[in-house]
Amino acid sequence: MITREEALKAAESAAAPYNAEGTIVFRDVVVKDRGVSLTVIGAPAPAERALEAALREALAAAGAETVHCRFRAGEAAPAGTQGAAPAAGAPGGAGQAAPPPKGAGPVRGHGAGLEAHPLLAEGSGVQFIAVASGKGGVGKSTVTVNLAVALARKGKRVGIIDADIYGFSVPDMMGIEERPQIVNERVIPIEKFGVRVMSMGFFVEDNAPIVWRGPMLGKMLRNFFAEIEWGELDYLLLDLPPGTGDVALDVHQLIPQSKEIIVTTPHATAAFVAARAGAMAIKTEHEIIGVVENMSYYLNKDGEHDYVFGRGGGARLAESLNAELMAQIPLGAPDNHVSEPDFSPSVYKEDTDTGRIYLEIADRVIAKCEA
Ligand SMILES: Nc1ncnc2c1ncn2[C@@H]1O[C@H](COP(=O)(O)OP(=O)(O)OP(=O)(O)O)[C@@H](O)[C@H]1O
Ligand SMILES: [Mg+2]
Repeated sequence: MITREEALKAAESAAAPYNAEGTIVFRDVVVKDRGVSLTVIGAPAPAERALEAALREALAAAGAETVHCRFRAGEAAPAGTQGAAPAAGAPGGAGQAAPPPKGAGPVRGHGAGLEAHPLLAEGSGVQFIAVASGKGGVGKSTVTVNLAVALARKGKRVGIIDADIYGFSVPDMMGIEERPQIVNERVIPIEKFGVRVMSMGFFVEDNAPIVWRGPMLGKMLRNFFAEIEWGELDYLLLDLPPGTGDVALDVHQLIPQSKEIIVTTPHATAAFVAARAGAMAIKTEHEIIGVVENMSYYLNKDGEHDYVFGRGGGARLAESLNAELMAQIPLGAPDNHVSEPDFSPSVYKEDTDTGRIYLEIADRVIAKCEA
């Protein structure tokens, strides 16, 4: 199986012919389930297509089954030089340079131009909370869904953006089967348990894999704001893909005011990896409102706590991020049955132990956000 180091090495050697000036760098190289995604920074715009083909070929040869490349302008390129200097033999050429970047500010990624959107505008009153983790499978989506439902149970107007565009899971977890309607060219989110939900999963037929290229990915994220009829909201939760990849970065850039919750398991390694997601939040000046430790213990039939995944990861992570450990959630799937009218596989009922823990997290979130 291809490793991150092998992917990076293959990408670097494939890019070498385009990188005479040394401006091309790779970031957010993520290898997951034999798929590789990476962000290419500083490639001359006219050479992008040829470079992408070379990267795909090299990464496939190195063992990647799917390849997802995103291109971004170089952050350090002096004004007016971006897009100039195409590689020898590339289409385009002198005189086709892209317009100079405005100012010398940071690259705004896919969020550029969305600042004026009413939801994102300053003073909109909407609290954004991104749920992040370093590792996959620690329970981000479970925490997002249950915190959203708990906030709704507390009377808040709540939405979820399932920003895990490739690995969407929110509709399934909430037991949503219907598809959104389009009214006046705007998409109406699906509402369940009092939460308005938008997910890529609504637009994919029969769970088919998504093999979009970078630009489409970012466009989707934009559309989740621009073309969705969210209505009035108090909280909008974003379920991020695992790690510090480019979607997470886009969200950071798109919603600078977003607060963040970091989810980890109690295992020391998970907490160590989660610290990277925390570091990214800090670097992008997002306030971390807390750490949630999930799968903390198993309550055995004698009523004792079995610490099956180790102990202390959440507390240590919270300390290192200077944040509060908001909750420790035990192992155990919700005791829901498919025959129930409002069945969902992942939403804990209000009157269960875990359901009550989520209500407490909601109280803490409200206290922090509305203080
Ligand atoms: N406290 C828990 N007890 C038992 N199972 C749990 C618990 N929390 C999450 N799970 C299960 O663990 C699996 C992973 O959870 P989830 O999908 O929420 O993680 P994730 O971090 O969003 O994963 P990904 O990185 O793939 O997006 C799911 O099958 C979920 O139902
Ligand atoms: Mg998830």
